[in-house]
Amino acid sequence: MEKKNLDWANLSFGYIKTDKRFVANYKDGAWDEGVITEDDKVVLSECAGVLQYAQTCFEGMKAYETKDGKVVIFRPDLNAQRMEDSAKRLEMPVFPQDKFIKAVADVVKANESWVPPYGSGATLYIRPYMFGSNPVIGVKPADEYQFRILVTPVGPYFKGGAKPITIKVSDFDRAAPHGTGHIKAGLNYAMSLHPIVTAHEEGYAENMYLDAATRTKVEETGGANFIFITKDATLVTPKSDSILPSITRRSLTYVAEHYLGMKVEHREVLFDEVKDFAECGLCGTAAVISPVGKIVDHGKEICFPSGMEKMGPTIQKLYDTLTGIQQGTIEAPEGWIYEIK
Ligand code: PLP
Ligand code: COI
Repeated sequence: MEKKNLDWANLSFGYIKTDKRFVANYKDGAWDEGVITEDDKVVLSECAGVLQYAQTCFEGMKAYETKDGKVVIFRPDLNAQRMEDSAKRLEMPVFPQDKFIKAVADVVKANESWVPPYGSGATLYIRPYMFGSNPVIGVKPADEYQFRILVTPVGPYFKGGAKPITIKVSDFDRAAPHGTGHIKAGLNYAMSLHPIVTAHEEGYAENMYLDAATRTKVEETGGANFIFITKDATLVTPKSDSILPSITRRSLTYVAEHYLGMKVEHREVLFDEVKDFAECGLCGTAAVISPVGKIVDHGKEICFPSGMEKMGPTIQKLYDTLTGIQQGTIEAPEGWIYEIK
């Protein structure tokens, strides 16, 4: 199939309308079969649950073209599971996990010419999402829902790609203890808009959020988990019930241990110990691994020894191994790669 004529190497992380999307509707207690359609418009009641009370959740995944011309997605079973967890927490009906994976595969197949070429640096971002669609005015869950999947080709999430970024410690909280930080609810991102706009205005690429209860422990950023590397090359990842359980972070932990023979620790990370790490990065589907060179805490700078020019050596190894697995140049653990064609 002939590829679309895009400047693949220079794509940003933005929305480009592709040819096809998946739409399924939930009504009278059941999901319909769903269809692949060219219609990108959503027509809703002015009083739809999503518009009044933000009853919506989503997922983020990517399709990759491999060196030998296959198209694959990475660990879609984990996205299906997390979407189920999000839906349950928001009192939304679960879209069955097997149908979720099939629908993702069908949309990618239907947009095959939009899958960026191997080696271009771009990927096809997949966004499954669900929202309450019927009128709701008293605070309660909707009775009707729409589940959709759109795809769009994307480049790096942070400008400059793999160049280290500078972030700030936020004065705002991302998620409360016992709140919704562990699921992918739209409301978590709405609340992050003011802090991220403020951070950008001040020249920072992202926010580091601390735990809301004590403001002493590292949580995550608006759209990625943290990874830290100690001076003796141990991978340390923050543990908290209000962090989104990143699939990339869980995969990196496995890669570090089983491919690179590193020690790994998933534990609470005090902000006070951050200055002692050798390397820092953000990880996620969109972020892949973005190195952090500097963290600014109200004027006080933490500069990692890896510097502002390039990724540190251990994060580089993690990056090369993970992206090699995703793009088919390194053998993947059983069940990680879902082949679409
Ligand atoms: N944390 C937040 C708040 C996110 O939005 C994302 C993106 O999905 C991640 C972490 C990374 O998760 P994953 O690696 O599953 O994409
Ligand atoms: C993803 O990585 O898929 C996300 O949803 C993060 C978002 C900030 C783009």
